Amino acid sequence: MAGVSGPCGNLTSTEVQVLGSGEIPPNTAPSELKGRSFMSSAPVNLTVIVGSNRSGRFAPVVSEWFVRQAAQHEGVAAEVVDLGAVSLPAQLGSRSGPGTEELAGITGKFAAADAFVVVTPEYNHSYPAVLKTVIDWHHAEWKAKPVGFVSYGGVSGGLRAVEHLRQVFAELHAVTVRDTVSFHGAWARFGEDGSPTEPDGCNAAARTMLDELCWWSNALTAARRHTPYRF
Ligand SMILES: Cc1cc2nc3c(=O)[nH]c(=O)nc-3n(C[C@H](O)[C@H](O)[C@H](O)COP(=O)(O)O)c2cc1C
Repeated sequence: MAGVSGPCGNLTSTEVQVLGSGEIPPNTAPSELKGRSFMSSAPVNLTVIVGSNRSGRFAPVVSEWFVRQAAQHEGVAAEVVDLGAVSLPAQLGSRSGPGTEELAGITGKFAAADAFVVVTPEYNHSYPAVLKTVIDWHHAEWKAKPVGFVSYGGVSGGLRAVEHLRQVFAELHAVTVRDTVSFHGAWARFGEDGSPTEPDGCNAAARTMLDELCWWSNALTAARRHTPYRF
């Protein structure tokens, strides 16, 4: 069967047709949909948000490793928004009020993104305040888009931070993907060159998460084009 090779898989002509028309007969049985791809041939514009701005932070090690993983994934084009590199105002007002200038660059990148990965440490069983600030400042930018996580910390590997973030993103109509990349005792898991000392597990976990993110991004992008998300 003729088809199109896309970044996240090969589409048969039937699947391209399905994607192009955006229509699936309403009574299509789930078994008929199995194996069908809802992928587009364009790479997913992925914004990686580095969620710690702490002085002396470990975040660059984890996020740089992850960005290298994303660069090897044929389905995504990644861009980084490092919250440690922006000067966020202590007080946020309206979109035209204080903080607008500092956040303008970030807001444009979030709006253009198809999908997000949040790299977050765990602070006191949750995620850093700076992340809450940028999440709360935005609204439409998250809607009907997928969010994946790379977390790190002590014993819990940042998973409690991720669970809190899932609740917040649900409120913002974002879709969080199930599989997370997590490093417990993170500082002992990377060598001096910034590479994981045992790369197989985390590299595979990153690919799985990116595959899921890619699937959701393509599905949601097609869905938004077909029917604008008005909720
Ligand atoms: C204020 C603070 C609170 C922390 N709380 C936790 C915690 O609840 N659970 C945990 O596993 N690690 C905790 N840690 C350890 C951090 O996750 C770890 O130091 C991590 O490297 C922090 O990320 P950063 O260096 O990029 O800021 C905490 C660290 C800080 C600074």
